[in-house]
Amino acid sequence: MRMTVIGTGYLGATHAACMAELGHEVLGVDVDESKIKSLQAGQVPFFEPGLPEVLERNIAAGRLDFTTDYAQAAQFANVHFLGVGTPQRHGSFAADLTYVRAVIEDLVPKLTGSHIIFGKSTVPVGTARDLQELANSLAGPDTHVEIAWNPEFLREGYAVQDTITPDRIVLGVREEASRAEEVAREVYAQALEASTPLLVTDLQTAELVKVSANAFLATKISFINAVAEICEIAGGDVVALADAIGLDERIGRKFLGAGLGFGGGCLPKDIRAFMARAGELGADQALSFLREVDAINMRRRDRMVDVAKRALGGSVLGRRVTVLGCAFKPNSDDVRDSPALSVAGSLSLAGAAVTVYDPEGMDNARRVFPTLAYATSASKALQDTELVILATEWQEFRDLDPAAAGELVAARHIIDGRNVLDVAAWQAAGWTVEALGRNL
Ligand code: UDX
Repeated sequence: MRMTVIGTGYLGATHAACMAELGHEVLGVDVDESKIKSLQAGQVPFFEPGLPEVLERNIAAGRLDFTTDYAQAAQFANVHFLGVGTPQRHGSFAADLTYVRAVIEDLVPKLTGSHIIFGKSTVPVGTARDLQELANSLAGPDTHVEIAWNPEFLREGYAVQDTITPDRIVLGVREEASRAEEVAREVYAQALEASTPLLVTDLQTAELVKVSANAFLATKISFINAVAEICEIAGGDVVALADAIGLDERIGRKFLGAGLGFGGGCLPKDIRAFMARAGELGADQALSFLREVDAINMRRRDRMVDVAKRALGGSVLGRRVTVLGCAFKPNSDDVRDSPALSVAGSLSLAGAAVTVYDPEGMDNARRVFPTLAYATSASKALQDTELVILATEWQEFRDLDPAAAGELVAARHIIDGRNVLDVAAWQAAGWTVEALGRNL
């Protein structure tokens, strides 16, 4: 099939490359010239394992190209995926739909014939219906445009796998005559053959599925972090507790990783946009618990700063602190709303001499926080430091040898912000180990 993918950020670039990998002919579209140039040259402008290979392979096979030209996109195909960003609006919790609307405004007047636009961006409920009205008002007399919603659930770090073999495909279709399901079945034929469930719903449900999934994940993380707060005061071990409740099949151990909490480009902004939309719908109360989810999450960062201050005798002023990790999670270079970078920044602003090391996130972090010191390796970051904070659980940090690391530092004191270290091994090597939610 021929298709365009409009918006070549994380979601769009991955979707474009993976649709080509499935054998489709794909044109990626973006207004950002530099992004398009880089993608045309086979370079992914962010870190995502496996994606560069998929991109290169499909450009070379002639199935994948990129453009900034909407007229070319309108000519190229009758199936379009919309994957532009919906960031948090400045000064509000609501999602900024400027880019989503701009795609419809730029594309639809150039279309002729019959087209389907599959929205993939995370949007407030009701957006697809509004976009259908907008498209109807912009379409020429012989043009027919259908808007459907096909939310994306990919995780950064596993984006290729999640796109090619998703655990479910959700498709929202409008009430009037719709061709969306028939077309989607062709697009996703390979996954459907492999028995991936396809759930066809109305537009509103499809929009809500995405934000509800992210709100649930955020709630699960904040639940265990709230229990961590109690463990810290009452004397308890949140890791042992999570293992114990996680064995209950109804609960499950995934997303009960207590620590510095969630960040990134999705969970924080999505729960806020969900609350904002509930307010617009007159149902604030239904989602007011998400305020707590957000607050519990942010308190973990403050708690880490407090534990660090206490570890250094009450003040970090002039003290050397190493923060391992600045990406919001491992296998990503994304520092958007990163708990790790937030802790590093707070300690620096409190007067500490902070050195950061991250295998992939440092270029992005440097742009947001140029005043931190960035080391070129974990060993260099550990050199002569008085306190180590593990803030992002990269495998490289999990694999650190406590004895060898101990030779580098000025004081063997580490705070595990992600609860991944082998505490007994670190203690045996003479380290004082502290962790969020545990009394060690
Ligand atoms: C998320 C959703 O998982 C994905 O389905 C959606 O499409 C986009 O948002 P992503 O932002 O890539 O994906 O990251 P995810 O793996 O969900 O992790 C989110 C945050 O939660 C990270 O900061 C991570 O460190 C944190 N986390 C995760 C925890 O603090 N504890 C856990 O147990 C799991």
